[in-house]
Amino acid sequence: MKQTAFAPGKIILSGEYAVVFDYPGIAVPASVGMRVTWEEQLKKRTLVLKWTGIKGGKEWETYARKIVDLLVEDGKPFHGTLTVKNDLPLQKGMGSSTALVISLARALLGPGKRTEALAVENAVNPGNSGLDFAVIWEQKPLLFQHGKEPTVVDIPTPLTGAILIDTGKPDQATPELVAWVRSRKDEPAIAEALETIGHCTERLLEGEDFRAVCRAHHRAQCTLGVVPHAVQTLIQRIEGLGGSAKVIGAGGTSGGGGMVLAVGIGQRALEKIAAPFSMLEL
Ligand code: MEV
Repeated sequence: MKQTAFAPGKIILSGEYAVVFDYPGIAVPASVGMRVTWEEQLKKRTLVLKWTGIKGGKEWETYARKIVDLLVEDGKPFHGTLTVKNDLPLQKGMGSSTALVISLARALLGPGKRTEALAVENAVNPGNSGLDFAVIWEQKPLLFQHGKEPTVVDIPTPLTGAILIDTGKPDQATPELVAWVRSRKDEPAIAEALETIGHCTERLLEGEDFRAVCRAHHRAQCTLGVVPHAVQTLIQRIEGLGGSAKVIGAGGTSGGGGMVLAVGIGQRALEKIAAPFSMLEL
């Protein structure tokens, strides 16, 4: 028996961190993701894991096996061959850790096992808001707010002509960053930045142009301390040329900031200022 399942990545337009504190956020599915094929072979005593496409090395294979172990039902381990075909940049704000949970759950347990997949997501990504899981599971643009049913949003998508810039892997993992922001959430500047990000979501819902909203959102992310210095400089240059940009996802305090979404600026102009970072046209 062979089963194949897919889960996309995600792009958060508005709401990073604020969604953890009950503010609304908007995210859309990415066009790339992870495809998992599961071939059950009962005669095999083990689970063979094959990873193709964008590789994450030992760390990601260990992570995949941890997810598989958490998905085991009735104490019956999985025997067979699991192939992950990954097109998603890893640990760069595009929801790779959640996409792996969902694609593995769908391949191993079947397509409708949302509760089981969510339990694993909460075990491997403690402190998460639920936004990544919701948009990757639904594969639709979503308005998400903790405690409410997510709804499909119909806003003009700012992604046509947008460019993703890969600024590298942050040194910190998302749960660590979320815990750090949580520990400072009552400091006036942090509380205000979280409120600003929540307000950015409302502005997008009211139909305001993404380019203007994006600038305010980016400044609030900087206040939270999750946009590394080199990424702030890059975004300043993008703004200097009339564009707007923000980190998508958790960002980082040092190392890279993951993917940056840039709008209102052409590839040519970006090439001049974004070196040595690589780019992905949407
Ligand atoms: C990570 O993709 C988004 C954060 O808001 C964390 C979360 O919502 O779980 C930083």
